Amino acid sequence: MEGIDSQIEILITEDGSSSLRRKDLQEGYHSTHGAIAESNHIFINAGLKNIERKPQINILEIGFGTGLNALLTCEFAKKEKQNIFYQTIEKYPLPKEITSKLNYGKILNMEEEFEMLHSINWEENNNLNTYFEMRKTAQAAEEISYKENFFDLIYFDAFAPQFEEKLWQKEVFDKLFLSMKDNACLVTYCCKGDVKRTLKSSGFQIEKLPGPKGKREILRAKKLASGIKHFLLLLILFFPMLAFSQKNIVENSQAVKETKNKTKVSKFHHTIGFNLTPIMLGGYKSFELQVLGDGDNFRRVKFGGLHYLNFLPYYQLDYNKKIYLTTYYRYNHVGFGDYAQMCNINFSYNFHKKESKTTVLLGAGAMYYKTNSKGGIAPVLYFSYNQKISEHFGAGLTMDIFYNPHFFANLSYTF
Ligand SMILES: C[S@@+](CC[C@H](N)C(=O)[O-])C[C@H]1O[C@@H](n2cnc3c(N)ncnc32)[C@H](O)[C@@H]1O
Repeated sequence: MEGIDSQIEILITEDGSSSLRRKDLQEGYHSTHGAIAESNHIFINAGLKNIERKPQINILEIGFGTGLNALLTCEFAKKEKQNIFYQTIEKYPLPKEITSKLNYGKILNMEEEFEMLHSINWEENNNLNTYFEMRKTAQAAEEISYKENFFDLIYFDAFAPQFEEKLWQKEVFDKLFLSMKDNACLVTYCCKGDVKRTLKSSGFQIEKLPGPKGKREILRAKKLASGIKHFLLLLILFFPMLAFSQKNIVENSQAVKETKNKTKVSKFHHTIGFNLTPIMLGGYKSFELQVLGDGDNFRRVKFGGLHYLNFLPYYQLDYNKKIYLTTYYRYNHVGFGDYAQMCNINFSYNFHKKESKTTVLLGAGAMYYKTNSKGGIAPVLYFSYNQKISEHFGAGLTMDIFYNPHFFANLSYTF
């Protein structure tokens, strides 16, 4: 925009940090209650600190403006020794005469970085410190084609919808959605009904969070990993086992035909099962009864709710109905920014009679787990009680002791 500097006025906000105001739009760059306080609240605390730590975090910012969000992110990268790649988009770049009057560098004790932030060339990758690499793009954000499946976090910090109508459209959010990795988040100060609906229609799961001083609410929108993806992963995992069992059945049935009385039946049996939770694949509504014993929150019973996704299929291979190998996979999403993936392998022994309809298993194994904040391998103690309902079907209860115990009711099919 021509002559943008004549339209800008500088002001000091309540926390002592400076900000700008567009006179022609009557629109501020930040809240008058505190520019640094607001950016920290919305983008750093609700955004950056909420996502999973990984070797590199890729961030996209829509609306570079004063560079405050970039500077706070650079500060985080330096303090936390976290590699960050930061791409920022600005439709109306500010001239140096204005950015040099901003006091963020001084307040945050990052004068050198703040100076660099504004002096580096546009359309070039540059490092502000060892951990923070950035690229500035001077273009309208709605006109850009973004790299797909790349960003972990988006700061959506452009002017409000009434001033930049084209930017808050579904087509733009669709593009941003595609540019994000699974479980990536978009954070914005704008909590308008229209914006929430548009984000939802683009596939985001949205969450309202308390706003900074002077603002009731802010928005965090998440791109959830699709249930279908997990289902396919499970199919891949289970396919070899199913193929093996199929071969077994064919061999056994031929043997039955040939030897009549002396049927040679395999000592291996296969069981596949699911917990009793009704699951809607590809959606996020599900029912689960979960009892957790983790101190303060000993009991949590949750029925329905939009933010709950739980898969718990399991596979069991037993030898002679005595020695069991059980493996299960679990993806659990509880609200925003809180998910867990687990993969168990347990060996157990059946304490009940071999030919009985009841199976009592006690075993131990290992669990690979991953949540947004941590991951690793943990030991597991495992207890399971199963009762045959018919020749193939069974039902039972499983208690899985990890750092907190989980109880599951399950249905199974043995072949
Ligand atoms: C609310 S200000 C916030 C800027 C910045 N994050 C900061 O901390 O100073 C909004 C910014 O978005 C920019 N902007 C407005 N429309 C845009 C668009 N369509 N594409 C990219 N940037 C845009 C404005 O020029 C302005 O710098």
